[in-house]
Amino acid sequence: MKITVLSPSSQSLQEISAILEHGEISRLATLHQGGVSQLRTLVEQEQPDVIIMQGICHDASEFAPVEAITNHYPKIMIIMLSQEQTSGFLIGAMRAGVREVLPLPLLKGALETALARAESKLGLRASPLSARIIAFIPCKGGSGATFLSTNLGYQLAATGKKVLLIDLNLQYGEAVLTVHDRKASSDIAEVARNLSRLDASFLSASTVQITANYEILAAPEDPAQSMQIEPKHLDAILNLAINQYDFIILDVSKNMDDLSIRALDHADSIFLVAQTLMPHVRNANRMMTLFRSLGYSEDKIELLVNRYGKNSEISLSELQTVLHINKMRTIPNGYKEVAKAINQGMPLAMVFNTSLVLKAINELAESLLPKIEHAHTGLFSRLLKS
Ligand SMILES: Nc1ncnc2c1ncn2[C@@H]1O[C@H](COP(=O)(O)OP(=O)(O)OP(=O)(O)O)[C@@H](O)[C@H]1O
Ligand SMILES: [Mg+2]
Repeated sequence: MKITVLSPSSQSLQEISAILEHGEISRLATLHQGGVSQLRTLVEQEQPDVIIMQGICHDASEFAPVEAITNHYPKIMIIMLSQEQTSGFLIGAMRAGVREVLPLPLLKGALETALARAESKLGLRASPLSARIIAFIPCKGGSGATFLSTNLGYQLAATGKKVLLIDLNLQYGEAVLTVHDRKASSDIAEVARNLSRLDASFLSASTVQITANYEILAAPEDPAQSMQIEPKHLDAILNLAINQYDFIILDVSKNMDDLSIRALDHADSIFLVAQTLMPHVRNANRMMTLFRSLGYSEDKIELLVNRYGKNSEISLSELQTVLHINKMRTIPNGYKEVAKAINQGMPLAMVFNTSLVLKAINELAESLLPKIEHAHTGLFSRLLKS
């Protein structure tokens, strides 16, 4: 795969080149110091498969030359590294045909993952994507499953992974509005009604694009439509989506109906979200019994103790004793910042990026990512978040 890097900064060019060279797969790239006006000459001379652009296009009005290139050379994949992550900028980038916009500072592994995806799209990588399916289910209403799942999706996508979240709270689902400020124009009921048309582009067009690589398939706006969605529809969506995304997150309803159980069957990991209150513990116990009767392995299930504080009345060891659960992690209480993010319809990271709640969500995201053996040091420290 021929990679070209374009940036006005020679230091950034060296840093990106070092990341490419020292990644899991060592990649060599040609480096060009310059701006967007050099793009056409560069493409004509080099004919690259992938162009990585950094420090170019600071707002949506500067995308015209990029769009001219993607229109003329539709096979070239453009990956943009940018501090700008507003929805206006991301939409502008997507309209101009930019494949991926990775946030700066770059997170570990983000660029490598984006390049692996480009290779796969270009047919240069043998194995297609095979998504990891993660289900979130609350023990009681208001446990925090939707808040945690939607924000986990955002954080995973920020590492360069391609993420689809499916809102399976078919009556009054809230997933989109938890991290986004506009309503969905299509939803899972629309997909179920048009199953014969279902392909990767129809599925993607039916989602709400939260960021360049984070999509949410919304629940229907009209709760009456929820009746039309059957487990076989979920099977069809997942069968297709599994080769299109790195992660599929299912925000599952606490009503243990056929659809919820089918979602949990498909999941590789189930996060059971509870708070340290007796009604939550009682329901968690009932759900654990059900999971065991469904034959789920203990390793598939992890208890997320949300809004946990040292002064909680029920301790973690008491929870462990009652529920006999192997895996457990805590998310702290952060009422103010969480409420502010949800009320603004924004991911927590965009509202309060030093929050301890966010730190815990990031640790959860990290536990789900494939381990990257090498460590980035020295030169990369400015680009990479530690
Ligand atoms: N870690 C946290 N700290 C403080 N508040 C939180 C935290 N997590 C969630 N919340 C609050 O809990 C509320 C309910 O969360 P959420 O809607 O995610 O619950 P849920 O489990 O999806 O409930 P439902 O059964 O309605 O789907 C949110 O509005 C948010 O204000
Ligand atoms: Mg919910």
